[in-house]
Amino acid sequence: MTQISHKNKVMNNLKSIFLCGIILLQSLQTSFAAVVSTGDFNNDFFVTWSPSHVNTSADGRSRSLKLDQESGSAFASNDMFLFGQIDMPIKLVPGHSAGTVLAFYLTSDQPNRDEIDFEFLGNVSDQPYILQTNIYADGFDNREERIYLWFDPTKDFHTYSILWNLHQIVFMVDFVPIRTYRNHADKGVAYPRWQPMGIKISLWDGSSWATRGGKDKVDWSKGPFIASFANYTIDACVWKGNARFCRADSSSNWWNKEEFSSLTWKQRRWFKWVRKYHLIYDYCQDNKRFQNNLPKECYLSKY
Ligand SMILES: *[C@@H]1O[C@H](CO)[C@@H](O)[C@H](O)[C@H]1NC(C)=O
Ligand SMILES: *[C@@H]1O[C@H](CO)[C@@H](O)[C@H](O)[C@H]1NC(C)=O
Ligand SMILES: *[C@@H]1O[C@H](CO)[C@@H](O)[C@H](O)[C@H]1NC(C)=O
Repeated sequence: MTQISHKNKVMNNLKSIFLCGIILLQSLQTSFAAVVSTGDFNNDFFVTWSPSHVNTSADGRSRSLKLDQESGSAFASNDMFLFGQIDMPIKLVPGHSAGTVLAFYLTSDQPNRDEIDFEFLGNVSDQPYILQTNIYADGFDNREERIYLWFDPTKDFHTYSILWNLHQIVFMVDFVPIRTYRNHADKGVAYPRWQPMGIKISLWDGSSWATRGGKDKVDWSKGPFIASFANYTIDACVWKGNARFCRADSSSNWWNKEEFSSLTWKQRRWFKWVRKYHLIYDYCQDNKRFQNNLPKECYLSKY
């Protein structure tokens, strides 16, 4: 009898500790995350180009885009965002992908547009993809950087992320920072910080420039060309016409907090590794192109 009631008491205590834990976890989660995506491509995105070339799994959690002689394809987010982080796992077109371009980007779609671009430039079989990144601020770009990836991006899904906050933009590959663009607006450098941006993904024919400067074109006999996406996360401030709300350093806008205002020491080490071993082009090192008059941000800190 006493043993049973003791046992019950212990069980009840355990139960309440367990419940407290859950409540604590939930409140922690709500204070550190503002995930606004459902994980279902059908809910968060709409097809903007050639629905017949877009294939979404029954549960909505994965999607593919196809490029063939008839058409490329694309989709875009229903919402616009002002700051946050987007993580998009992608498996690129395998095999002979020369001439193809897969673009994953944020854009404000305005004449003076802001844009943050990942562009994956395909290649002939067994030759490496190039990952090109670019930034438009207030309508101006010419900020290309190019790297080779340190893995085969066609074998598995890898996560490509954009962190965008009041202080910096960080491009990440499997959470390794490959590029930063700091907010040096106080020093006269344009920085995307007022226009909300939508997420876009497209697969298209870039034969005229993508691979070895246009030397290797799309070989349609090797098609169709298919890239896949799955299990993305959008943790961002949904644009509802109120910039102040999104610019606030609040508990739901975790990305605006001090700790995300610059790369951590650990991230800096990875960043240096990428730039030492994998960088192939940096506009800030292209004196010829800019006639020794590099853009202002090239002389300013990346951290
Ligand atoms: C769509 O994707 C499924 C797997 O997710 C695949 O079995 C099917 O063949 C694909 N359909 C087309 C038209 O590509
Ligand atoms: C394609 O492969 C060639 C040869 O290895 C390389 O020079 C080039 O950078 C690669 N990527 C692209 C997109 O041209
Ligand atoms: C996406 O997540 C689901 C559920 O966790 C998992 O079963 C599936 O394998 C994942 N897909 C990819 C491509 O990572």
